[in-house]
Amino acid sequence: MNDLLVTGSVIVTLALIAYSIGIRIEQKWKLLNNKVIIFLTTGLILDITATCFMIIGSGNSPFTVHGVLGYSALLAMFIETILVWRYVLNHGLHQQVTQRLHLYSRYAYLWWVVVYFSGGIIAMVR
Ligand code: HEM
Repeated sequence: MNDLLVTGSVIVTLALIAYSIGIRIEQKWKLLNNKVIIFLTTGLILDITATCFMIIGSGNSPFTVHGVLGYSALLAMFIETILVWRYVLNHGLHQQVTQRLHLYSRYAYLWWVVVYFSGGIIAMVR
């Protein structure tokens, strides 16, 4: 792995930590506070940054199995962050989230984690 790929892998791991904290708070209390907003938004920025490092650092086409799975996970968390922001802007902070948003958060995050681990394995063994 070259320096760009190592940097991308470190940054995507920081995204995992940020997403995990944000989603854990939402799933535990079923509400949105500023920590949820801050951690999800930070995770998304880190996720996009890591993806750019991997695309630039990789000698492959950006549309490999690992790449496409990665984009789908990034899209799922992009939608999650937009939904959370929209909810807070419409209803304010510290409000109970709807069951739909609560479940979407859980499944988007679980998909992202599956892709993170499978992505790491696929990219490493290639
Ligand atoms: C969900 C998060 C991730 C996204 C969005 C993502 C995205 C990408 C993309 C678009 C590429 C370029 C296409 C390719 O070479 O396959 C790539 C390459 C790569 N990624 Fe990721 N990735 C993610 C997670 C990971 C993880 C967790 C690791 C390992 C710790 C990793 C390691 C690599 C490596 C080593 C390459 C270069 C593979 C090669 O050049 O053969 N990626 N990634």
